[in-house]
Amino acid sequence: MLLLMSLLACAPELQEETAPIPMPEVWGTQPAIDHDPAEDVVEYHLEASMVEIQLADGEKTEVLAYNGQLPGPLLQARVGDTLRVVFENQLDEATTIHWHGLRIENAMDGVPAVQDPVEPGETFIYEFAVEDAGSYWYHPHMRTYEQLDRGLYGLLTVHEKDPPKVDQERYFALDDMRLNDDNSISRYTLTRPDGRIGRYGNRLVINGQLELLTDTIRPGAVERWRLVNTASARTMWFSVDGASMRIVGTDGGLLPEPYESSRVQLPVGQRYDIEVIVDADAEAVQLQLQLPNDQGRFDTYPLFEAIVEGEPSTTQAPDWSGGPLPEIREAEQEIELILDLEVGARRDQWTINGDVHHEENHEHIHVIGNTPTHVILRNESLFEHPFHLHGQFFQILSRDGEDPKEPGLKDTVLIAGEQEIVLYSEFENPGVWMVHCHILEHGELGMMIEMDVTDGTDKDSSTGFGAP
Ligand code: C2O
Ligand code: CU
Repeated sequence: MLLLMSLLACAPELQEETAPIPMPEVWGTQPAIDHDPAEDVVEYHLEASMVEIQLADGEKTEVLAYNGQLPGPLLQARVGDTLRVVFENQLDEATTIHWHGLRIENAMDGVPAVQDPVEPGETFIYEFAVEDAGSYWYHPHMRTYEQLDRGLYGLLTVHEKDPPKVDQERYFALDDMRLNDDNSISRYTLTRPDGRIGRYGNRLVINGQLELLTDTIRPGAVERWRLVNTASARTMWFSVDGASMRIVGTDGGLLPEPYESSRVQLPVGQRYDIEVIVDADAEAVQLQLQLPNDQGRFDTYPLFEAIVEGEPSTTQAPDWSGGPLPEIREAEQEIELILDLEVGARRDQWTINGDVHHEENHEHIHVIGNTPTHVILRNESLFEHPFHLHGQFFQILSRDGEDPKEPGLKDTVLIAGEQEIVLYSEFENPGVWMVHCHILEHGELGMMIEMDVTDGTDKDSSTGFGAP
């Protein structure tokens, strides 16, 4: 009998009944419930709708939200899993969900170029394999400047096979909102100034709250914090007080080795994973937002404060190495993207290579896939742009000819006014992928274009360059 039971225990059919490996315990955002018992499939249910929430004292605020939460629920998977999202649109307008940063099958990217909009009352099932561990997020890709800003966003994590051991994982979604005196969200406009500089909020919002977040933290604790900037336009900087901080991961997952930094620039759309180790004599640990003021210095806004108390932690700083970055080879292809402003009478237009995205006849950019490529980003405007590429990762080779020392895989890079950046990517993921400015007003006003990425079989082997 005993023998039979132990035999049964290793029978493959029974594996489905064993509970999936638990996801790490998280703090700061509400995890979604996995509806699929299979070990390598996670299924989440998301519903977009308009809800009223108590954001500030006094009147409630009408927001758009996934599952009534701000931010939407945290979606978690492990490397190699299949992620399925049953999505129901209860808004009174069409929408889609885009999985920001994930290198997935093109048809599931959630942009109108590859799927029909999900109309009010409709359901759409997104399903794709997740191959890259990292910190991502999700949001609509239609009328994004309003839908996302009104609250439709959530975080998405793909955990490593064997995640580094820490005392706690914390999530921070940094945002700002523009509220009227009665706590309603101020109306959306694409005319100036918002169409020019993007929509800046008048309230900082962290994990959907206007107030300082609080908790306790153990003496000497070793933690992993994941940060994302979900604002419409505002570039943020952050720092940590009362603890040491090292950057361990970028948009595309863990770095080969962590590096130290005291103040980190976090442009819209971008993510960082940091290791936080509580200082020996600290009484409290703070996550602080730093924003430049008129005097060219930074003002500090505490976002989160943890009082140091309890049993000292015995956890050691783990090995964070995510393995080597992809090798940078000699480029066989060069793609030039010129970002510019076209000043209009009432509205500005933002262009990529002279094209405005909402004009019917704009051209796609042709990219030979699976090919070492330099993407030359040239910003001819005076304004900064958090430039985002779908479906691929890149490395930053240079800013105005200098090595910027910004290691890691990224899907978003902030380009300063009149700057030139050279990116490196091999475009391993074929399909029609959007590239755009993540200042949502800029994207809406034209700074967005499709890249048609081939599988590389069109490469001319004699020269390495594709046929023109
Ligand atoms: Cu965060 Cu095209 O998206
Ligand atoms: Cu822009």
